[in-house]
This record gives sequence, C-alpha cells and structure tokens, in this order.
Amino acid sequence: MNTAYLNGEFLPLAEARVPVMDRGFLFGDGVYEVIPVYSRRPFRLAEHLRRLAASLAAIRLEVPLADAEWTHIIERIVAAAEFQDQSVYLQVTRGPMAVRNHAFPAVATPTVFVMTEPLVTPPAELREHGIAAVSAADNRWHRCDIKATSLLANCLLRQRAVDHGCAETVLFRDGFLIEGAASNIFAVKDGVLLAPIKNHLMLPGITYDVVLELAAQHGLPTQVRDVLEDEARNADELWMTSSTKEVLPIVMLDDRKVGAGGTPGPAFKQMYGWYQQFKASVMRGA
Ligand code: PDD
Repeated sequence: MNTAYLNGEFLPLAEARVPVMDRGFLFGDGVYEVIPVYSRRPFRLAEHLRRLAASLAAIRLEVPLADAEWTHIIERIVAAAEFQDQSVYLQVTRGPMAVRNHAFPAVATPTVFVMTEPLVTPPAELREHGIAAVSAADNRWHRCDIKATSLLANCLLRQRAVDHGCAETVLFRDGFLIEGAASNIFAVKDGVLLAPIKNHLMLPGITYDVVLELAAQHGLPTQVRDVLEDEARNADELWMTSSTKEVLPIVMLDDRKVGAGGTPGPAFKQMYGWYQQFKASVMRGA
C-alpha cells in the first residue's frame, strides 16, 4: 500500500479522507503538480515547486509549506514506495468551508495532499510508430497557466481524443496552436523547432523547458513564438510533451498524416535520443 501525506500526517493512501465541504471537492478550488521521479530522484523539484508557488499566488493562497518541508514529504513518500520510477502528485486546495459559498472563507485552512504512483512512460511502440491526435477549439478559460485542479474542460477534451481512438487532443484558439489537453505541443517545419510562447493560455511545462534546453544544447534551430494553426497543420512534425509522456511524435492529426510520411520524423528521433541520454545521465544521476 502506497504511503500518502495529508495535512501533516503520513498514512496509507486508501485511508486518506477529506471532508465533503472541502472547496477542492465542491469547486475544484485548488492547484496541483505532477513530478516525475526517476530511480527515486524527483526531477526538477525546485522548478515544480516554483510553478506551484506561481499557481498558488494566482489563486490567492499562501504557499502552505517551505520548500524544505515539501522536499522532506516527497522524499519520504518516494522512499516508501515499491517502485523506482514514480509520478508524485501533490495538490493544495483552499480547504473546507462551513457553508457552501463561492467567496473565500475569511480564514482558509488549505488541504495539502501528496501521493505517488508508478511512472509508466509510453511503450516503445508509441515512440516508434507515433500517436494519432484530434484537434479541438480550446474552450478552457483564460488562465491556463495556472495548474488548477478544476480540469473538467481538459477531461472532456482528452476524452474526445479517446472517443476517436486517439491519444491526445491538440488545442487551437483564434487561429493559433496552444497546447494539448494534458501536454505541450511543438511543431517542426523545415528543420526548425517551433514552440508556442508561454503565456496565460498555456501551462508552462517543465518538459517543454527540457526540450528547448536540449534543442539549444545540440544546435537544433528553434523559434519560440506564436504558432499559427495553419503552420501546425502543415508542419513536418508535431510532438507532444509532458512529465509522464516525455516526448511523443504525433503522426496523424484529424485523420491526416503529419508531414509526408505519417511516421516519426528525423527531428523527433534526434530529440528522443537526447532526451534518453539526458534521462540516464542527469535525471537518474548515473
Ligand atoms: N499534465 N499542458 C497541460 C494542460 C498539462 O496538463 C500538462 C501536464 C502539460 C505538460 O507539463 P509538464 O511538462 O510540466 O508535465 C502541459 C500533467 C502531467 C497531468 O495533469 O497529469
């Protein structure tokens, strides 16, 4: 049984309980992080905690724990788990309220929850053959930079992909590429990596940063800028990235081949190699 952390206590996950009046339950009033752990080493913990602090500030909650406390909790949960590679989930909600009221309670007592699950990275087949995606108009709110637990729109958008036998939904808004339902999206055109610029409409992905760093290190030309929907639809390659999916090639979009072949492109193969090298040497600390 996995160990979890809830409001100051370590306990078996199945025993963790929150009151039904918690604003996280009734309003989705909370924020979260998903931190990949390789060989029991949390990857880019400082960056995840920084993004958490930004999400908390945006929803007007104080950071409930110091970085050293988060680190201690995460280390303890990671050490207790049976698996080496993990996906640590942490969430902070605005806590319980006495009566249901949209406005904040005068004094909030945040609910702090941390758990871990096995990190299951995509099977080789998906990397070798690529994945299919559908597209959709991005109907989420205008603060997608906040990693909020209110994920109903994202869930509906991801389910749209599943309903079509696809792995992800690529979101466009007002003629621009934004991100995926639960991932960031990159395009490659004529050997140049195109990355949508971070703004309030997309989540600033930690994996997105890693991909841009690896591109810079290895000399892959990159442009971080607004990417037109047309450019994405006519790209030579499309990739999706996230902490749990790493980097995956999208080879079909809305039943149309991406690029000429409808197979993973040369830039993806390079990036995947760099990513695996980086994982072995830096993430696992070998
Ligand atoms: N989601 N954009 C959205 C909307 C996401 O939900 C995610 C990740 C990303 C990628 O961010 P990162 O590289 O930091 O994982 C982009 C996580 C994995 C989730 O909700 O489970």
